[in-house]
Amino acid sequence: MNEAEVLRAEGLTRVLGEVTAVAGVSLTIAAGEWVSLVGPSGCGKTTLLQMLGLLDRPTAGQLRLAGVDPWKGTVSARTLLRRERIGFVFQGNNLIEYLTARENVALPAWRLLGSRGAALAAADGLLDRLGLSARADTRAALLSMGEGQRVASARALVNRPQVVLADEPTGNLDKASGEIVMAALGEVCVTGSALLVVTHDVGVAARANRTLTMSDGRILDR
Ligand SMILES: Nc1ncnc2c1ncn2[C@@H]1O[C@H](COP(=O)(O)OP(=O)(O)OP(=O)(O)O)[C@@H](O)[C@H]1O
Ligand SMILES: [Mg+2]
Repeated sequence: MNEAEVLRAEGLTRVLGEVTAVAGVSLTIAAGEWVSLVGPSGCGKTTLLQMLGLLDRPTAGQLRLAGVDPWKGTVSARTLLRRERIGFVFQGNNLIEYLTARENVALPAWRLLGSRGAALAAADGLLDRLGLSARADTRAALLSMGEGQRVASARALVNRPQVVLADEPTGNLDKASGEIVMAALGEVCVTGSALLVVTHDVGVAARANRTLTMSDGRILDR
């Protein structure tokens, strides 16, 4: 493995019933790299991201995260990899509705930081950064779509992950809030983490070091 490489996929495939949502995707992402993933609706972006984030098991193909094959290890080893190394921003936020914004952000950090107080402090810092201090104690169910999306980005960053996978993180945001979210996500690259962002926004895509284009379950050659 190349030293700088944090994520490598070879021939990743996911078959869902009759549909081959992802059909043999190979890619590598290096430390500190910011990559955009674009392509039409239904081409397999979310399905690919969920495999890269260890949320869905590939039907075929190989994955390496920091040199480790996550599907060769145990379920708890994968849980640890997800918690410690991956930050995931879901297309639909996936916040826990009955928890407040700060509790949602703090939850993944609680075990890693060893105390509820430290996790809440980390959450408060990120919520402040994302312009959400005033909404910190609001239950997720009562947040607007855009507020929820910013909380989801804060949650993905709280454990300082090596790889951030973000699925349309600015889809429900106005320009100013989108800028704040992309600045916060993009900053992880400065400290050597990798960022992969699915986006339909050409402005967001253009900020990356590199753009991957998907069509019909495949990455197109450029
Ligand atoms: N659980 C599932 N069962 C069957 N088919 C699925 C499932 N999830 C996704 N698909 C199909 O897989 C294909 C890829 O879906 P995916 O959600 O990855 O697309 P996408 O590129 O993220 O689209 P969008 O830009 O609209 O979010 C689509 O044809 C979709 O209908
Ligand atoms: Mg999608």
